[in-house]
Amino acid sequence: MKKNILVLGGKGKTGRRVAERLTQKGHNVRIGSRSENPAFDWDKPAGWPTVLEGIERVYITYQPDLAVPGAKEAIEAFVKVAKEKGIQKLVLLSGKGEIEAERCEQLVINSGLDYTVIRASWFNQNFSESFFLEPILAGHVALPQDKVKVPYVDAEDIADVAVDVLLNERHNGRIYELTGSRFLTFKDVVHEIAEATGRDIQFTAISLPAYTKMMEEHGIPSDYIWLINYLFTEVLGNDNNQVITHGIEEVLGRKPKDFSDYVRETAATGIWNQKVHV
Ligand SMILES: NC(=O)c1ccc[n+]([C@@H]2O[C@H](COP(=O)([O-])OP(=O)(O)OC[C@H]3O[C@@H](n4cnc5c(N)ncnc54)[C@H](OP(=O)(O)O)[C@@H]3O)[C@@H](O)[C@H]2O)c1
Repeated sequence: MKKNILVLGGKGKTGRRVAERLTQKGHNVRIGSRSENPAFDWDKPAGWPTVLEGIERVYITYQPDLAVPGAKEAIEAFVKVAKEKGIQKLVLLSGKGEIEAERCEQLVINSGLDYTVIRASWFNQNFSESFFLEPILAGHVALPQDKVKVPYVDAEDIADVAVDVLLNERHNGRIYELTGSRFLTFKDVVHEIAEATGRDIQFTAISLPAYTKMMEEHGIPSDYIWLINYLFTEVLGNDNNQVITHGIEEVLGRKPKDFSDYVRETAATGIWNQKVHV
């Protein structure tokens, strides 16, 4: 049966892929975006009831991160409106190993609505559709936490999982932890991308204070710098995150996409060979 599904962050890394898959399956998808009509903006709760009108299920991706101050209050308020509008099921995208995000998960878990929580590791697509693209294009990636090994997960896999849990009741009440099947350091990542693109891309390990100073010098807003610091200390520095989990196999019955396949496919699009305009 066709479902009416709202995809928040429907133009973002996972939301876009979730919306495409649901549309292909014939469901009625509403994209939650500030540039849609009706518009969805986490900072403008007055617009939420209109966006939720006629919707049965919601894929929630919060911006910029469930760990930031104000996220808990926003999720609490959203859950309240969702209940008032008769939503049946909520699927929350959360971050793996983030205590603050787990507080937001609890609000969804205790909502009384059907729910599934997806806790994801760092995405592969951070290197091609997000904040790490720019240094890769510049040919010089300088980051802290060079020793940390991250089990990156692909946004395509997250989208496949999200669609399955949105549509199937057997996932109600479950929390799935999604990682890839292999650990990589930042140096490993840069090396794989350099090899696949035939480019010279250098990696330099720097301290977190030096990285913070670099962001300040580039005029990055202070709340964004706070978030990056949090991600590099609380999330990457957390030993519990250096663990491979099997949520993707559990939901989809197949292995996660390997990082090298992501790199090969992304290199073929030419995104890492764009000219940088200074
Ligand atoms: N990236 C990772 O590695 C990672 C890992 C684990 C968990 N997560 C979680 O995944 C969620 C999404 O993060 P992401 O980095 O992947 O971002 P993303 O989904 O790529 O999000 C980008 C989208 O955010 C939307 N957005 C920005 N400000 C907004 C606002 N005020 N109201 C509504 N929408 C807004 C923009 O949509 P419009 O311009 O269309 O409005 C944009 O399309 C976060 O909660 C994050 O904690 C991310």
